[in-house]
Order: sequence, then C-alpha cells, then structure tokens
Amino acid sequence: MKILVLNGPNINMLGIREPEVYGTESYADLLALLDSTAQTLEIEVIHYQSNHEGCLVDKIQEAYGIFDGIVINPAAYTHTSIAILDALKAVGIPTVEVHISDVASREAFRQISYPGMYCEKTIAGQGIHGYRLAIEYLKEKYA
Ligand code: DQA
Repeated sequence: MKILVLNGPNINMLGIREPEVYGTESYADLLALLDSTAQTLEIEVIHYQSNHEGCLVDKIQEAYGIFDGIVINPAAYTHTSIAILDALKAVGIPTVEVHISDVASREAFRQISYPGMYCEKTIAGQGIHGYRLAIEYLKEKYA
C-alpha cells in the first residue's frame, strides 16, 4: 500500500511557528513519525510539503493511479482552496484531512474546509500524532 502525505504552507515551520498553537515538535519530527509509522505498518509513505497551492494540486494529480490513499493537511489552503478540493475529487483517491490544532475551537474563518468536503475523515487537535491516526485509518480500511 502506498500513501501520500501532503502538507501545505508553513507546515515546514513546525516547532518554530506559534508553538502554543502547533506544539514544539518540528517538521523533522513529523517526518520521523511518518517513517516509523510506515515501518510499523509495513506500507510505503511518501511525503511532500509546499507553500504553493498549484504545487499541491500538481502532486494530487500525479498521485492518480499510483497512490492508494492521501493524508492531507492543506494548512491555510484548507479555508480557501476550491482547487485542492477539485483535484481530490478528480483523482478519487481515499483521503483523510489532518489538522495539528483544534480548528473547531479557533477563529470563524477557520471553520470552513473546502478539501474537507471531499475527505472521508478529519482528524484535528491531536498534534502530529494525527498523521499516524490518519495513516492507520487508511491502512485498516483500504489495504
Ligand atoms: C492547520 C490549521 C489551519 O487553520 C492553519 O492555517 C494551518 C495549520 C493545522 O494543522 O492546525 O496552517 O491546518
């Protein structure tokens, strides 16, 4: 099984950016968690981060026919990107949305998720551990 983990803008700044909101674990810590999750579950996990909406759309399109599942944290694009929503719908790959923070308890402008309208599950407020939960969910359901 192959899972693509996509991260949107500023997720590469984890550990530095607003630690009171996003925690003190770094992006490198997240990548280490993805590696250990892949090893434990005996699956392939490929990761990609971009600060650019079109690059994320490109990666989703390229995943067609190659990946069995997507885990995506679109970051700020969560609340704006119909393009990411449309790309997910276009490829039709089972997708789980992850947010490090508990978006439901934050500002009003964070209460809409366009990609979430396609995703079959959303995991939020569990820190970087949420990525592991999302991968476990996809493995259990689709492997
Ligand atoms: C986030 C929540 C978004 O509202 C925010 O713009 C982010 C990160 C999260 O992981 O909690 O950049 O997706």
